[in-house]
Amino acid sequence: MKELEEKILKEGHALSENILKVDSFINHQVDPVLMQQIGDAFAGHFGNKGITKVVTIESSGIAPALMTAISLNVPMIILKKQPSKVLNDNLLQTVVTSFTKGTSYELTLSHQFIEENDNVLIIDDFLANGCALQGLISIVLEAGASVEGIGIAIEKGFQSGGRIIRNLGYHLESLAIVDSMDASSGTVVFHEQ
Ligand code: G4P
Repeated sequence: MKELEEKILKEGHALSENILKVDSFINHQVDPVLMQQIGDAFAGHFGNKGITKVVTIESSGIAPALMTAISLNVPMIILKKQPSKVLNDNLLQTVVTSFTKGTSYELTLSHQFIEENDNVLIIDDFLANGCALQGLISIVLEAGASVEGIGIAIEKGFQSGGRIIRNLGYHLESLAIVDSMDASSGTVVFHEQ
């Protein structure tokens, strides 16, 4: 997606050869116009899949997921990473260990929000090694629903997540795929799409 790649080139920073900082438009401050374009792009990719729910993980997935849900006119569900005192009924849970962040958390869904006949579209901001995404997929499947598509804003093509998810047979669309980064020169190279 041209607008997203241009924004990354203008405001993103390669912190190292692995980590891309996008705090000014995705992870801290959010660019609502760009989010709307991202939502419309995902709706274009998955609009013919009979999607009934858009699902993401808190926190940075929420903005693109919400804009996609508006565009598809379906509800959006946020899977929780923090234990909640009020969320205790009929829960589906799986432990996710993030390779990138070196942390673990219990991904949680209240079963009532995803049902057996749901066609789910998963949306997230980043795909690195895909630990979060695999946890998300397993919870959706445990709920008995089907994963009809996965939309990622920024995939780091030099990490394993995209290959693993595509090899599992899922329809994965990434709006920008970063092939390589260089912190010293600030270069970010995109995969030709
Ligand atoms: P992993 O398997 O390597 O752990 O990767 P995964 O795709 O599950 O991503 C783990 C977390 O790290 C995610 O955030 C993801 O957005 C973030 N992340 C991975 N690579 C980058 C990167 O290059 N830049 C930025 N800015 N973030 C990256 P999260 O734990 O879901 O947190 P949140 O930001 O959504 O709250």
